[in-house]
This record gives sequence, C-alpha cells and structure tokens, in this order.
Amino acid sequence: MTKILVTGGAGYIGSHTIIDLIDVGYEVVSVDNFINSNAQTYERIHQVSNSEFQTYDIDLCVHEDLERAFAENDFAAVIHFAALKSVGDSVNDPLQYYQNNLVGLINLLQLQKKYKVKNLIFSSSCSVYGNAEELPVTEHTPLKEAESPYARTKQICEEIIFDFLKTDPDFRAIVLRYFNPAGAHSSNLIGESPHNIANNLVPIITETAIGKRNKLAVFGSDYPTRDGTCIRDFIHIMDLAAAHTKSVDFLLKEKPSDQGIVINLGSGTGSTVLEVIHSFEKVSGQKLNYEMADRRPGDVIAVYADYRKAKKLLGWTPARNLDEIMHSAWQWELKRSH
Ligand code: UD1
Repeated sequence: MTKILVTGGAGYIGSHTIIDLIDVGYEVVSVDNFINSNAQTYERIHQVSNSEFQTYDIDLCVHEDLERAFAENDFAAVIHFAALKSVGDSVNDPLQYYQNNLVGLINLLQLQKKYKVKNLIFSSSCSVYGNAEELPVTEHTPLKEAESPYARTKQICEEIIFDFLKTDPDFRAIVLRYFNPAGAHSSNLIGESPHNIANNLVPIITETAIGKRNKLAVFGSDYPTRDGTCIRDFIHIMDLAAAHTKSVDFLLKEKPSDQGIVINLGSGTGSTVLEVIHSFEKVSGQKLNYEMADRRPGDVIAVYADYRKAKKLLGWTPARNLDEIMHSAWQWELKRSH
C-alpha cells in the first residue's frame, strides 16, 4: 500500500483528510504533538474508517524526533498540516508563529530530502492574498502585504518550498490555499475541537447558540459589501479533505511536469457574516444572540475563490453548500457538548 505521512493528523483538517485517504486505499502515518488537538480524535478516526494506522507523538520542530518517523517508514508523499493558525495569537506572539511554522517545514523538507520522499502537499491559506485586488481570487491574483504574522508565515513557507524545488528536479509540491474551512464529518464523530479558545466564526456561532458564550459580536457592519459585513468563502471540511486525496493522486499518478503547483480551495461563493448567521438560524431552528460591533483589526473586506484550477487539474468540485456546512457544524456542537 502507498504510505502517506500526515503531519497534524489529529487536527481539524488532518483528521478529516486521514479518513478520506484511508477510504480510497492509502496507508496513513500521522505525526501530531496535540498542541491544539486531542489524541481521542485518533480513536474517532479508527471508528469511522474501521482501520488502524500508525501515529507518532512528535513535535516537528524537534528534528531527531521527526527523523524517527522517516527512518521507520517508506513514504510516497507528505501532507503537511501541522501549524499554528490563529491570526490574533500570531499578532500577540509572532516569534512563536515563525518558530513553529517555519522550523517545522524546514525540518520536514530536510528529512524529505535525506529520505528521498519527493512529493509534498502543503496547507496554505487565502490569507496570503492579503486585501486581494480582484474577486474572485485566482492563483494569479498578486499577493499583497500579509495582514498578520500568521499570514506571513504562510507566504514565507510557500517561498521556502519554491526555493527548495529548484534544488531537486524530481521534487514536486502542491500548495493548497484554503479559504474558510468549516463544518464537520457526516459521521458526526469528528469535527472542529480546538484546545485553544475558538476564534473562527462558525465554531463561535455554534458555541454561542449552545450557551458556551453569551453573545456573538459581528466585527464590522460598515464595510462596502451588500449588508455591511465582511464576505468570506466557506468550504465544507469534507470537500476540503477530498481535495487532499485528489492532490496526492495527482502527484503520484500524473507526475506533473510543473514542480510547484498552487491551487485555491474554496466554494467559489462569497457569504457575508450575516448570511452565515441566517443560514445557521435556518438549519438549526435557533435564534442566535448577536450584536454589531467594531471592525476587527487585520480583517480583509471580502475574499472568495475561483476554484477552476482545482477542477481542471484535480477533477475536484465542492459538493456541499453553506446550509450543509452550518447543519453539520451544529450537529457536531450538540454532540461534543453533551
Ligand atoms: C483567517 C484567514 C484564513 C485562515 C484563518 C485561520 C483571511 C482572509 N483568512 O480567516 O486564511 O485560515 O484566518 O484562522 O485572512 N467574525 C465575526 N465575529 C467573530 C468571529 C469572526 O464577525 O466572533 C467575522 C470576521 O470578522 C470575519 C469572518 O467572521 O469577517 C470570518 O472570520 P474567521 O472565522 O476568524 O476567519 P478569517 O479571519 O476569514
């Protein structure tokens, strides 16, 4: 069986991707240090996929520890999720973000080189576009100044990968720029369950509805958009997971001549913050306690994806809409809170 190393496999996107990889017949090895995830997620993955896989409790920043995973396995490809991802925390502690996100990637690439693992899928983010010049955003839309240290780590990581590719003509990388992943697995056994306090819109909505929080603050109601609130592109976590499996297939089977391929992963639809709230109210039958508040520093006004490249290269299209995202997120909140 073809073995894939997944870093951050106990995390939100990693766990959903492992299920999808196993489902299509890949063997998975996961590395995670549970900095913002939970070992229990592995048991849930076993339950859903009905299959065991090897795991390492390893911090990617410790080179010798990570090397164990490479020495003990023969990987065909790596999917690198493990990273810190809170925009706000990165503003307060940029060094932690640079240390963790850059050193982790560098160690990984050094070991991929040493052990001749020639394929990489990298988790990037639409935040690399900054306040994008054009909408929808294509892979050719120029990158603007990063709005946060988190976004800058993703820009720098992409550059590190592209520089590294020039040193080995057999090495290939797909850089996946995610828009706003949300929702939960259809089994309702896994979903987003961060250790750290949630700071993304969808979990904050469900936590407010269930009573873990008092009220949702809508950050900004005077933006130049159709209802004054920011516009984002929400993509169902299972659609996002499937795109990773298709990316692995593409690298291993097609062996593309292009060494470094950037791909946007979004639904292609922009939704305002108020539209997300209304979708939640519709599918849950709950009235949400929210109020308009000041703008949040660092927020871009509007961003949504052109995903035609993902469709063309990977044969991938998003299958689930905003209501399905909000429904699954709510089912998951009900489950994990009781
Ligand atoms: C940002 C990045 C994304 C990154 C993610 C990681 C951009 C464009 N996107 O997403 O690439 O992967 O962080 O965390 O930089 N909101 C409220 N009230 C809240 C919380 C959020 O109104 O309590 C609003 C925000 O102002 C924003 C929208 O909801 O307009 C989405 O916010 P959030 O879920 O934090 O994601 P982004 O900031 O879009």
